[in-house]
Amino acid sequence: MEKKISVAIDGPAAAGKSTVAKIVAGTLNYIYVDTGAMYRALTYKSLSEGVDIGNEIALVHLLNDTVIELKPNDYGQLVFLDNQNVTEEIRNNEVTASVSEVSKHKSIREEMVRRQQLLAKHGGIVMDGRDIGTHVLPAAEVKVFLIASVEERALRRHQENIQKGFSSNLGKLKEEISLRDKLDSEREVAPLRKAHDAIEIDTTSLSVQQVAEKIMSWIEERTR
Ligand code: CDP
Ligand code: CDP
Repeated sequence: MEKKISVAIDGPAAAGKSTVAKIVAGTLNYIYVDTGAMYRALTYKSLSEGVDIGNEIALVHLLNDTVIELKPNDYGQLVFLDNQNVTEEIRNNEVTASVSEVSKHKSIREEMVRRQQLLAKHGGIVMDGRDIGTHVLPAAEVKVFLIASVEERALRRHQENIQKGFSSNLGKLKEEISLRDKLDSEREVAPLRKAHDAIEIDTTSLSVQQVAEKIMSWIEERTR
């Protein structure tokens, strides 16, 4: 494949976006960008500094004064916030519970989208999030929308927690994921939506490898 294209992968929490996006980016030797990590990093900073996450103006000031860097490593991507490695911290429960409140603000989204479009300006990118196919990269050559049942998605997060040795409550995970789905898909600005030209893949009963293969064949078809 000669031309370096852009691949947009969207969908709700734990649909498998980042796992397959990393495989696809690795196969194509493309850059991988996890846009959720950018919203999580800002959320982590606002919670650490006691900034009211309902106060859009205060949050924008904070974001304008914040450097978020995504650095690829062998396992995927490290996240740096003002030069500090926060890869683990941004996945904690407090951040997860607040991130949808932060990401609903219009001016926060505008600045994040501006930064994401800069990262993607030369193509050769696989970007995952909620609004990549609809707003960030509307001209992406390949758009994928991943879904899976909420039961399966909660189970995936539960299994990840157990593997890491963390305590985990399946019922609570299901509630947390359902609430975040609702907030992300009902917000006014750039809600979670399938782009009209995206292919939808239900990953509920597929393996990671099967999903990655489907996306790779779609990419080959679109770029032939
Ligand atoms: O990994 P997980 O699916 O749990 O979430 P994430 O991709 O890290 O995204 C965290 C949150 O950031 C989402 O629930 C959205 O509120 C927000 N987000 C967004 O609004 N737009 C994006 N492009 C990416 C994430
Ligand atoms: O990025 P997103 O929140 O959409 O999902 P993720 O962080 O990639 O997490 C998905 C989890 O489900 C990972 O532990 C994967 O190994 C697992 N999984 C998957 O991603 N896709 C499947 N088809 C099956 C399992």
